[in-house]
Formats: sequence, structure tokens, C-alpha cells
Amino acid sequence: MPAVVVVGVQWGDEGKGKVVDLLARDNDIIVRFGGGNNAGHTLLVGDERTVLHLIPSGVLHQGKICVIGNGVVIDPEVLVAELSALRRRGYLTDDACLKISDEAHVIMPYHKAIDLARERLRGKGAVGTTGRGIGPTYEDKMARTGIRVVDLLEEGTFREKLERNLEEKNIYLRSILKEPGMEFGAIFDAYRQHADRLRRYVTDTALYLHDAIRDGRRVLFEGAQGTMLDVDHGTYPYVTSSNTVSGAVCAGAGVGPASFQSVIGICKAYTTRVGNGPFPTEEQGAIGERLRESGDEFGATTGRPRRCGWFDAVLVRQAGRLNGLTGIALTKLDVLTGLDPLRICVRYRVGAQQFDTVPASTRVLERAIPEYEEMPGWTAPLRGARRLADLPPTARRYVARLEELTATPFTIVSVGAEREETIVLD
Ligand code: IMP
Repeated sequence: MPAVVVVGVQWGDEGKGKVVDLLARDNDIIVRFGGGNNAGHTLLVGDERTVLHLIPSGVLHQGKICVIGNGVVIDPEVLVAELSALRRRGYLTDDACLKISDEAHVIMPYHKAIDLARERLRGKGAVGTTGRGIGPTYEDKMARTGIRVVDLLEEGTFREKLERNLEEKNIYLRSILKEPGMEFGAIFDAYRQHADRLRRYVTDTALYLHDAIRDGRRVLFEGAQGTMLDVDHGTYPYVTSSNTVSGAVCAGAGVGPASFQSVIGICKAYTTRVGNGPFPTEEQGAIGERLRESGDEFGATTGRPRRCGWFDAVLVRQAGRLNGLTGIALTKLDVLTGLDPLRICVRYRVGAQQFDTVPASTRVLERAIPEYEEMPGWTAPLRGARRLADLPPTARRYVARLEELTATPFTIVSVGAEREETIVLD
């Protein structure tokens, strides 16, 4: 049975948690394949709000297998805490329901210290990272000095790698970043404890997924962050340090491209961004504030207020192409209730030049003026809608126009945070 990939198509926080939770019902295995605990996937079931940072969003369905693939960077302290909190609530009580790749890289305390210190030193030019050590961990992976989960489990290997890395990192921390160095003993002891706690879940997840797909099990791959944060295709350098596009699933989970049948893009009915970098349709005044309040646009990981603005069809169309989307799940349509008129960016203008794609130059993108189409809004609440026909005519026209501009069929329209507040089209 071919597999499905779900990715964010804007700057993250599109509502992947809710959609993956919904799709998880029809799948056996849910897999994270990139990013780390910079992600915060929020799920609302009844009165229970769950924010997941590392464990896939299928975890609230009993009996589903959750896999953390090799492309994820893992902070073991965060994973142990998340796991314990879920187990206290009755989830993941069966150890066989969680599988962690032996090849995933481990976030170390020096990665977090380097991330935070660099951001401080960059001042106004800061990326606005989540401070979780994501970038420095991926750097070490590429530099071939990283520590993998399998290394963490082997006491001798871990000792050797930690000693060697600390020697270098302490010089960098002290001399270049003017930060205190770190002691071997405390890190070693704490990480050995985490290793003992996690050992039972560690396996060759690429092999597990290969066999599962071969045996016809249904597998859902859950992307993290959004396409515009992709290190190659996003608004570099204001991006995360991994590939977030759908293609990353192959390397990040160890599964060949022929296994995939569909790619679903999660897309908010407006646009948000956390952290710094260009954002052509940003609204810094009352409309931005209104979207932030109605959409509860505060980071699930850091609590930072998200920057908010109008729907940008230029970047969603680009994301559609980069990901090879076969469908879009439109989220948070209900947040637009009461705004009139609504605006949709259809192209950018920079001086006399027009852009139908996102320019690679940061300087050009910073100067991009959005060209808007206006559409009438609606005032009726949408949360009760379960079919497109239940939506006010102006909301239906707005959805239809977005579908036309993004050139991708919409498969889901979400009208509220709860599981059932959803219109399923396909
Ligand atoms: P890092 O991934 O912590 O290095 O942060 C790099 C950029 O990506 C910053 O602008 C972060 O705000 C942004 N970012 C990272 N993860 C997420 C996410 O899950 N949602 C939204 N933005 C994110």
C-alpha cells in the first residue's frame, strides 16, 4: 500500500498536528522524518490539549505505531519528558508502539548553548531560532562529528565522541562565543540515563518501514516546519537547518521514492511566521493583531507571538511545485470570520518588475510589495460546518479562489481546532 506524506507549505505552524491526527485514524504507522523539538504540533481532543515536539501526532490513537526516523534530531531529555507525560495519560503504554531510529542524531547541551550564544551575538541579524540547538546539531551531522542514537547506547563510543567533541566545543564556546565551557561528567551521566530509558525503543527504523510498506501496512509520514523554512528552498538564511520539503522523506526515513502515492500540503487560510526574515504579506497593525488573537497565533514551542498576514498565493503555489502536492488541507478558515474585505496576494512587485515566484534574493524579497485581490468576507461562525455547502457563499468563494490560485485540489477544509470541526472533501 503506497504511503502518504504530509508537509507544511508556508512557514510552519499550519496545523499539521490536527490534520495528521485526523489522517492517523486510517493509517497504521505515523513517522516523523525531519526537524526536532523546534516543532510543536498541537492536538485538541475534547478538552485535552496536547503539544507534541518529537513524538508523531498519531500517538493519541491507541495501537498506532509511532516512528522517529533517522532524519530527526533528538534531544533525549525532551523525548524522555514527552514520553513520560504521555504514558502518565495512558498513551504509549505498550513499548512496541514507539520506534526510534538508531541513526538519528542527538542534540547535546553544547548545541543548545552555541545556538543561543550565536543568536545573541547576531543581534538584529538573528535568525530568530527556537534556541533548541537544531542548527548546530545538523552542522555536526554534516561535519561527520555528530553523535547518533546508536553511539549514545554504546558507553565506550559515547565517552570517546563526547570527550573529543567537548574539547573542540569548549574552545569555540570560550574563545569565540565568550560563553562558559561545559563539564564532561554531568553531561555523560545525564545522557547515559537517557540512553537507558530510550534503549528499548531503538531500532533500524528504515528496515522496519521497508517491511511494513512491503506488507501493505498504511504509513503516514509527518513533516515538520514548513516549505519556506527549507534550508535549500526556503527564505535562506531565515530557515531551519534541514530539508522540510516532501522529498526529504526519502533520506529522512530511509524509504525509496516509489513508495509514495500522495503528498498533502497543510496550508493556513492566511499566513504566519515565527522568527525573522522577509514576509511580504505581513500585517503589522490591527489586522495582524486580530489574526493573532483569533487564531491563537503564539508559538507552541517557544510561546513567541507569530507574525500574521494575508494569504500569499505566490508562496503556496511555489510550495505546491516544490513538494509535488497532490492535495491541500486548508486550515483555520474560521479565524477569518468577521474580516471584510479579505485580501489574497497574487503576485509581488519590486520596482517595475513583477514576480509570480518567490525571488531567491533576500534583498529583493524584503522589498517585495504584494499585489492583492480583494474578496468579501463573512460574519457567520464556521465551526459547525461539515460540508462545503454549510459554509456561507462568500467563504465558499474564498476557498474556491484559493484552490484556483494554488492550482492544487483541496482535500480537507478545517474550520476549528477540534477533530470533528472539519470538512472532508476527498
Ligand atoms: P531553528 O529551527 O530553531 O534553527 O529555527 C530557525 C527558524 O525556523 C526560526 O525562524 C524558527 O522560528 C523557525 N522554526 C523552526 N521550527 C519551527 C516550527 O515548527 N514552526 C514554525 N517555525 C519554526
